[in-house]
Amino acid sequence: HFGPSVSGVGPDDTVAFRLSPYTYIGDRARALGVDVFDTRLLLRPTTCMTGAEAARVFYDPERFVRQGAAPGRLLRTLFGEGGVQSLDGEAHRARKAMFMSLMTPAARGRLVELAGRGWRERIPIWARMPHVVLYDEVNRLLCQAVCEWAGLRPAPRHVPWMTGELLAMIEAPAAVGPRYLRGRRARLRAEQGIARLVERVRERPEPYEGTALGTVAGHRDADGRQLDPRTAAVEVLNVLRPTVAVGRYVTFAAMALHAQPGCRERIRDGDDAYLEHFVQEVRRFYPFFPAVAARVAHSFEWRGHHFPQGRRVLFDLHGTDHDPRLWDRPEEFRPERFAGREPGAYELVPQGGGDHHRGHRCPGEWITVDLMKVAVTALTRWMTYGVPAQDLRVERWRAPALPNSRFVIDQVAPTG
Ligand code: HEM
Repeated sequence: HFGPSVSGVGPDDTVAFRLSPYTYIGDRARALGVDVFDTRLLLRPTTCMTGAEAARVFYDPERFVRQGAAPGRLLRTLFGEGGVQSLDGEAHRARKAMFMSLMTPAARGRLVELAGRGWRERIPIWARMPHVVLYDEVNRLLCQAVCEWAGLRPAPRHVPWMTGELLAMIEAPAAVGPRYLRGRRARLRAEQGIARLVERVRERPEPYEGTALGTVAGHRDADGRQLDPRTAAVEVLNVLRPTVAVGRYVTFAAMALHAQPGCRERIRDGDDAYLEHFVQEVRRFYPFFPAVAARVAHSFEWRGHHFPQGRRVLFDLHGTDHDPRLWDRPEEFRPERFAGREPGAYELVPQGGGDHHRGHRCPGEWITVDLMKVAVTALTRWMTYGVPAQDLRVERWRAPALPNSRFVIDQVAPTG
């Protein structure tokens, strides 16, 4: 068993992290009785932090930068190079404002409308199928909705392929060999295609006004210049890809409804406050991103721990969402915990913490919650279905996580 070293010059913990990416930091920190410890990951000295107090430090943009923080394989597949994730300071603020401008209530309402239509159209189709792999179907539904919303207007017959390309980028970072290469190639193809589209939009912007494609194509960075088409493509993909990833949360929501029939009944009977709490609890409870990486901008001390300039630091997202100091009986799925509790910016952090505008917190949080609500509404109020015997185990080493069967349903029937 590998042990952490207080000085940071210890054995490499990459294997331990890979085996339990969601619990590695939290378990190790609790065993040591600390919120911060040094180790080695991927051969580099790495400082790991967990909990709400650590989140306050980690999300202070004066203390940390993102440039050079993400491993190359993440940039080449999941994120793309030159995107908002790796920017700091003014450059980050200007680019982030572009994403935030897409999240107005009216724009969100249009996406919810498109997704709702997608569910309504598919339920009768599913009713004619012997069984439905919910994860696969929902990803396509979300892909079609977000592409249309973003101004890409794909032909419906292209949607399954596009969904596969976006998923390949999500699955690739943790993979080796063919699955990594598949994600890499998918990114190259998508960036080329969308870069060409951006050039066309710039020639004739009117039909794209107010869409993500139009906004990114017309955006000017902090230096007053438009994005080069390739970077613009990276940012368009930064909207499409994670929206399809909401399909994972929808799958987990279906698992929770299955495990706790009481939740289903309350939501089906119209308890909208409970629907909100249920969705928050799915985001808190189920594993998605284990952690997020930054680098120390200038050396500092926190709680007697030295953070040397340039050190890579991992902040524990999943462990903070399961920290017993913040969450009573964290390993129980209990939507009620959110009744009368507005979680603080450093407590519920499945999509990052702190301030959306100044820091790197996910700009897609509202969309995520909106799309999950539509999905849970559809699953409880617009249809009935059976859940046949299947392998619903979630492997602890798999990041991003998913139940093995990808949630199969049968005997689908529309209601109302
Ligand atoms: C950033 C999670 C959905 C766009 C992030 C971060 C996480 C995250 C953990 C990094 C936070 C940090 O660096 O501190 C998720 C999860 C989602 C989701 C679990 C649900 C499936 C979305 C959606 C969008 C989106 C729907 C669409 C707009 C982004 C962007 C960033 C980001 C552009 C980079 C922000 C920045 O660096 O300033 N997300 N996200 N995400 N997310 Fe999401």
